[in-house]
Amino acid sequence: MCCFSSPSSSPLHPQLSDALPAHNPDAPPPQGWNQPPGPGAFPPYPGYPGAYPGAPGPYPGAPGPHHGHPGPHHGPHHGPHHGPPGPYPGGPAGPYPGGPAGPYSETPSAPLKVPYDLPLPAGLVPRLLITITGTVNSNPNRFSLDFKRGQDIAFHFNPRFKEDHKRVIVCNSMINNNWGKEERTAPRFPFEPGAAFKLQVLCEGDHFKVAANDAHLLQFNFREKRLNEVTKLCIAGDITLTSVLTSMV
Ligand code: GAL
Repeated sequence: MCCFSSPSSSPLHPQLSDALPAHNPDAPPPQGWNQPPGPGAFPPYPGYPGAYPGAPGPYPGAPGPHHGHPGPHHGPHHGPHHGPPGPYPGGPAGPYPGGPAGPYSETPSAPLKVPYDLPLPAGLVPRLLITITGTVNSNPNRFSLDFKRGQDIAFHFNPRFKEDHKRVIVCNSMINNNWGKEERTAPRFPFEPGAAFKLQVLCEGDHFKVAANDAHLLQFNFREKRLNEVTKLCIAGDITLTSVLTSMV
């Protein structure tokens, strides 16, 4: 089976199974959300929690994982924040380069400051997985993820809780200050006021895949092709941010 999830309980959309390498049967099983890796987990990078054990090699410059820092945050944060492996688990994994490696800690951490900027020093690369955990604020209006190339936005992922009294996920890009054509094809709206969520964005060969709470949600075809120049993820809006993790799957 070619899959990057546990064969018995894959929440993935079928198309996801085509994208990644074969599941490594020798690898420890995927970890649950907010659970540390098992004691036998292979650390693909010093200090890395090993969410996706068996990693073939790091993406250059990879950051290390960390949770929300115990103190207040000001400005951009460098390095990964580890969180739970997601619905895109199972494959060999490695760290995404560019972030500091840090010791894994099971202790709860303070939320990350929102808006939050995550540098992606090597830009986007296929198999880069970004896992974001947080909680939607009460009475939210919207939140967004923006993958940016300079001031352009290669991928804008924008759940809106009250657009004309409806809930909708809007995806788009912004080039030279102009928004492109909106994509509103998400089949469901997996966010609730006050509820915790996990979002995973997987960079593939020509599109992003987004999963929410371990289930595939949507994909967004690349409009900006200069992936290596998409060097920042900005997370903003009406959420409390718990962790942001980058890894290679
Ligand atoms: C605009 C909104 C932007 C962005 C964009 C996406 O109406 O002001 O923040 O969400 O839609 O198409």
